[in-house]
Amino acid sequence: MYARLFEPVQLGEISLKNRIIMAPMTRDRAGPDDVPNAIMVEYYRQRASAGMIVTEGTQPSIEGKGYWRTPGIYSAAQIDGWRHVTDAVHGAGGCIALQIMHCGRVVVPANRGYAADIIAPSAIVMDGKVPGPDGVPVPTAMPRPLDADELPALADGFASAARNAIDAGFDAVELHCASGYLINQFLNPASNRRDDAYGGDAARRATFPLMALRAMAHAIGAGRVGIRISPGNPYNGMDVSDPWGDFAPFLQGASTLGLAYLHIVDMGDACPDTLGRVGALYDGALVANNMLTADSALERLSGQVQAVSFGRAFIANPDLPTRIAGGHPLAKPDYGLLYTGEERGYCDYPPLK
Ligand SMILES: Cc1cc2nc3c(=O)[nH]c(=O)nc-3n(C[C@H](O)[C@H](O)[C@H](O)COP(=O)(O)O)c2cc1C
Repeated sequence: MYARLFEPVQLGEISLKNRIIMAPMTRDRAGPDDVPNAIMVEYYRQRASAGMIVTEGTQPSIEGKGYWRTPGIYSAAQIDGWRHVTDAVHGAGGCIALQIMHCGRVVVPANRGYAADIIAPSAIVMDGKVPGPDGVPVPTAMPRPLDADELPALADGFASAARNAIDAGFDAVELHCASGYLINQFLNPASNRRDDAYGGDAARRATFPLMALRAMAHAIGAGRVGIRISPGNPYNGMDVSDPWGDFAPFLQGASTLGLAYLHIVDMGDACPDTLGRVGALYDGALVANNMLTADSALERLSGQVQAVSFGRAFIANPDLPTRIAGGHPLAKPDYGLLYTGEERGYCDYPPLK
C-alpha cells in the first residue's frame, strides 16, 4: 500500500534507498568540546533504515552555538567524532546529511561553556526565551551586529563546515534557513534592519544567505547541498506577515544553483498552499515535512514532492520504515527526556521484535 514511499530516489548527487527521510532533531547529547560521542553513534546507527538521516543542527563555528550540548563541525575532534557516526550509518546501509545550523542571535551564553560573540544582522534582541543548561527558558542577550566586511569570511565559514562534513564522511549537508536562526534572521525584516547591501528589501536581505549557499556549493558541489525553510513559522521572533515576499528572492536565487533538495516545513493553515507557492518559485527536488502520517506522506508523494521527512515519529521508532511498511502501531516518545543529555530516552527505544 505504501510502495511509493519505498521507491529509491536521487536527490542531486545523493542516492536514497527509500523516500522516508529522518528530519533534523536537536537532542543535546554531544560530549565535551561539542564532540559527537558514542551514544550519538548508536542513536544514528539505529535509524539507518531511513532513506536519509538529516542530523541535528550542528554549529559551523564557536559563534554558531546557542543551545546546550549541540555538536560542532569546526574542530578536528568534532570531525573525528562525526566520522564514527557516518561510518556506523553507512555500515548499516544508510545515508546521512549534516544539518548546519548557525543560531545567530538565538543564544543563551551559559549553554556554550566558553566566551564568544553573539552575532546577528542587526542589534535587535530576540523577543522570546531559550532553555539554558538546566532546561529553564531564559531571555537571550543583545547580539552584536555584523560589519559588512565580516560577511565574506562568515560565508567562508559555512563553506569550511561543508568541507569538514564531507571529510567526516557525510553524504551531504543541509543549510538551516528555517526557524529564526542566522540565515532566516538575514531573510526576515524583524531581525534584519540593515541599511547596507545586506538589508532593505527582500532581494537585499537574501544577499548574505545566497553568498553562504554559493560558497558551500562551490566547496563541495551543489548536488550535495540541501536547504531547509519554514515559511510562515514565527518561531524565534520571525515576522510572518509576508512569507512569500520575504522568501521569493532567496528561493529564486537558490533555484539557479542546482542544489540537491529543498526541505520544506509546511506550516499548513498558518501558511496556505506552501508546496504550491514553493513550486512556483523554485525548480528542483522537494522534501515535505511537518505532521505527516504514512497516508498524508503518500498523498504528498503523488504531488510535486520527491521525498518526505518525519521527525518525532523517529524518536521512539528507530525502525520507522519497517513499521510503516507493515502497518504496525507507532511507539510514543517520552518528551520529558528529549534534552537530558543522557542515553535514556535517546538510544534505548527498541526496534520491533
Ligand atoms: C526534539 C526536536 C528537535 C528539533 N530540532 C531541529 C533542528 O535541529 N533543526 C531543524 O531544522 N528542525 C528541528 N526540529 C523540527 C523537526 O525537524 C520537524 O520539522 C518537526 O518535528 C515537525 O516534523 P514532525 O511532525 O514529523 O515531527 C526539531 C523537532 C523536535 C521535535
